[in-house]
Amino acid sequence: MRVIMIGGSGFIGQHTAKFISNNDLCVYDLVPPSFQADYVQGDILDEKRLEKSVDGSDAVIFLASLISVPRSFDALADYMNVNACGAASLIEAIKNANKRPKKVVLSSSAAVYGEGAYACDIHGKVYPLPRTQDQLDRGSWEPRCPYCGREVKPLPQAEEDELRPLSPYALTKQVQEWLITAMAPRLGYKAIVLRYFNVYGPGQRPDSPYSGVITKFITQAIREKHLQVFEDGLQTRDYIYVDDVGEINARALELEESATINVGTGIRTTVLQLARLIADRHGVDVVVGGYRQGDIRHSAARIDLMRTMLGWQPRMTIEEGVAATENWMRESGQLKNESSP
Ligand code: UD1
Repeated sequence: MRVIMIGGSGFIGQHTAKFISNNDLCVYDLVPPSFQADYVQGDILDEKRLEKSVDGSDAVIFLASLISVPRSFDALADYMNVNACGAASLIEAIKNANKRPKKVVLSSSAAVYGEGAYACDIHGKVYPLPRTQDQLDRGSWEPRCPYCGREVKPLPQAEEDELRPLSPYALTKQVQEWLITAMAPRLGYKAIVLRYFNVYGPGQRPDSPYSGVITKFITQAIREKHLQVFEDGLQTRDYIYVDDVGEINARALELEESATINVGTGIRTTVLQLARLIADRHGVDVVVGGYRQGDIRHSAARIDLMRTMLGWQPRMTIEEGVAATENWMRESGQLKNESSP
């Protein structure tokens, strides 16, 4: 099978490549991949060039996206251009290709759920309103029932839940989902939307203020700085190791029907647990306070579909994954430049 990975040179692409190496693999990206594959240098918005690369491919794995929730508030046009227009550009390319691909696997995000669904003792399943600036300034972190104002308990995020994106980034992922799924029947491909939860591991950029929290904390700990935990640290995320995600992407290529599937572990970890896990290994402090605009409070996946449709169960525990990530950061010399943030 000829597979084209668009945006395939990045963090998730390099781990996916290991699991699809038995295919005829092509990477379309601005920078060359670090692994063996055909390579086309190109911009996601260059429809003509993209069309040439997509033409004759059996499947597309679409990984080209900007990924930071906080950064998206300051770079609206970039996020709309790369993420939303990028997906539109792929669809134009598929439409105009002589031989269209039969499958498109989209790397979407749990961010599309926004705050997601919660359980209220009185009102059952509810969708809390986004936390207001005033609530956050007062340190009132937990979402509340929109009907009675009581604190509510987070439910696992399920594929059929309502989508209520809370950041420009999340909205662009929803646009990608909409475009790729809505155009599938017209253009004759199957759309497999994978909603990644918090992906981490070797290869993730550690040195930017917008890096994922795990590589950011490891960087701070190795540099003997304190770890800055936002809110009260009791917000939760579902962290999934990147090799697990790579293998799931490979399995998605085998699906014969369109589907939308969560990609997580189903396990909630508080940011404070994560910070302590890293801080204790290094003897550094954890400082709690502040908050980030657009952050959701709780996030964990319901993974029944991932189990049944992809036959998959995550392998790596957070302890093993954090250790493997730190080893990679040390061995690959990621932290040589001490002046980086
Ligand atoms: C992450 C991904 C996003 C993905 C989403 C899916 C990155 C950069 N972002 O967003 O692409 O779609 O998961 O769920 O990989 N935090 C701190 N201190 C810090 C940095 C972060 O306490 O210095 C906290 C944040 O407030 C948040 C949690 O850590 O509660 C995770 O933050 P982050 O790693 O930036 O990821 P998400 O915003 O969840």
